[in-house]
Amino acid sequence: MLRQPISLIRSELRKLQNLIYHNVYIPPKTNQEAIDKFHEIYFDSHAFSKTFWLGVPVRKCPFDLWVYQEIIFSHKPDLIIECGTDLGGSTFFFASMCDIVKHGRIISIDIAHLKDRPMHDRITYLLGSSIAKETKEKIKSMIKPGEKVMVILDSNHTRDHVFEELKIYNEFVTKGNYLIVEDSNINSHPVFPEFGPGPMEAIHDFLKINNDFIIDKKQEKFFITFNPDGYLLKVK
Ligand SMILES: C[S@@+](CC[C@H](N)C(=O)[O-])C[C@H]1O[C@@H](n2cnc3c(N)ncnc32)[C@H](O)[C@@H]1O
Repeated sequence: MLRQPISLIRSELRKLQNLIYHNVYIPPKTNQEAIDKFHEIYFDSHAFSKTFWLGVPVRKCPFDLWVYQEIIFSHKPDLIIECGTDLGGSTFFFASMCDIVKHGRIISIDIAHLKDRPMHDRITYLLGSSIAKETKEKIKSMIKPGEKVMVILDSNHTRDHVFEELKIYNEFVTKGNYLIVEDSNINSHPVFPEFGPGPMEAIHDFLKINNDFIIDKKQEKFFITFNPDGYLLKVK
């Protein structure tokens, strides 16, 4: 009889403590609010700049890396094209997954040449802008006939740049494979409201002019993804 009231009092006390320590306590009203709140806390902590794959910094949310692992295992792409290498952590992660499934190679493009990126038999680094004509031609020449191709866009995150990338790289993706647009969570989806139009806006503008892709929401099953609406599956 007494248990319920005591637990209620404890819960009210916890709320009061939060009120005291954090000035305001606003309990989330819905699951989505709670998820978005955690997403904001996680993003604002910059945990993504303190995340490593085998010692190399990787600018991704671990939930998304797990989804990549599942996609690489289930689809076994012959070629993964990545726009935006940075220090090579994600490239190295993809190469490690390809090692495990004993299949696949990666071409990663960046405008910056950085020393000390991980060297790996499965990785080719390209220097240049992802939207430059020469880069497009170079990549085209590197794709072997019949290869299953998956693409990841993680370079300049402005809407216009991502939109250009989508127009170029959608053609390289083979039917049944993914075109993944990274960091569509910025510009209030739900983080970094001050960014301005970014990947999310590019995705939705692109889908108005191209119906070969669908948004694969099942890849957002872990609730937190840095790529909401960004797992695009080529269906035609
Ligand atoms: C977010 S980082 C990439 C992070 C990396 N994929 C990871 O997950 O660890 C973005 C990278 O895009 C590169 N970048 C910016 N503009 C670019 C462009 N026009 N073409 C290719 N790369 C570009 C930057 O130099 C930077 O290294």
